[in-house]
Amino acid sequence: MLIIASRNGVIGIAEAMRALKQGGSAMDAVEIGIRAVEADPTDQTVGYNGYPNILGELELDASVMDGRTLNSGAVALMRGFPYAISVARQVMERKLPHVLLAGAGAERFAREIGAEAWDEMLTEEIRAVWRKRLADSTATGEIPPLKENSPLLEWVKLATDPERVAGTVNFIAIDGRGDIASGVSTSGWAWKYPGRIGDSPIIGAGNYADNRYGACACTGMGEMAINASTARSVVLYLKTGMALADAAREAMRDLRDLGGDYIGGMNLVALDKDGGHIGMSSEAGRTYIYQQADMAEPAEVEREMVEIPARWG
Ligand code: GLY
Repeated sequence: MLIIASRNGVIGIAEAMRALKQGGSAMDAVEIGIRAVEADPTDQTVGYNGYPNILGELELDASVMDGRTLNSGAVALMRGFPYAISVARQVMERKLPHVLLAGAGAERFAREIGAEAWDEMLTEEIRAVWRKRLADSTATGEIPPLKENSPLLEWVKLATDPERVAGTVNFIAIDGRGDIASGVSTSGWAWKYPGRIGDSPIIGAGNYADNRYGACACTGMGEMAINASTARSVVLYLKTGMALADAAREAMRDLRDLGGDYIGGMNLVALDKDGGHIGMSSEAGRTYIYQQADMAEPAEVEREMVEIPARWG
């Protein structure tokens, strides 16, 4: 039994491991671990109290993938429901003929299944940060009136990689039966253009699991992982017979070598079916965490760095 997670998963990994030890599935562990992060108001890039979009609205993205079957479920742009990961899991488990629901449809589904809804998804503190960010970027210091039809193209250049503040959350687990599951949840980039969807709910981009080979999940500039299908690439490279480190490195190099327009970085965590695990980052000093069944607490380990120069404009 093994769980790996992005560092901000530390708040949920022990409870997730307890669930595995009690016979829970890898998917249970992933959901439990991520829910703890989603409920944490101090993590401002996942779930409740994440940084809002440019209009000050919180839009959540999340996905799960079951490595036994390649079944998946995802939600995007969902407002008013803090536990996006649980709604994503239900998209998969209720056997809809769909894998991804977005916006009003995701909210409708969440209501229909009785998912926990919160009237207030942002604290006053985070609203103040949003207001200040807007005010600081004007000559007058006044907050601009961003109405329904206001042009936003200039404003969206304020968008910020959540990794610079805390980060999307990744969890991948292998349970006692050897099954693998993976999950990702995020509020996306701070001050994003309304309707922007990152890699977290896109299966193959930010999340992928296949019992036969392994799994990968990403954080960072989601647009990069979408362009290069990063999570699926790692698993596909494993399928070709590459060792885990080589597979993960190759997926990072795919991003670097093609030279796209990047303003952020990329990070991934990955494991193979035999329980090997690794983290990669385009930034030095980044870490991830893991916990095996015989460990009383998680260990934090450094990610290998693959430099990906930022290029924008
Ligand atoms: N990786 C999270 C996002 O770009 O939204």
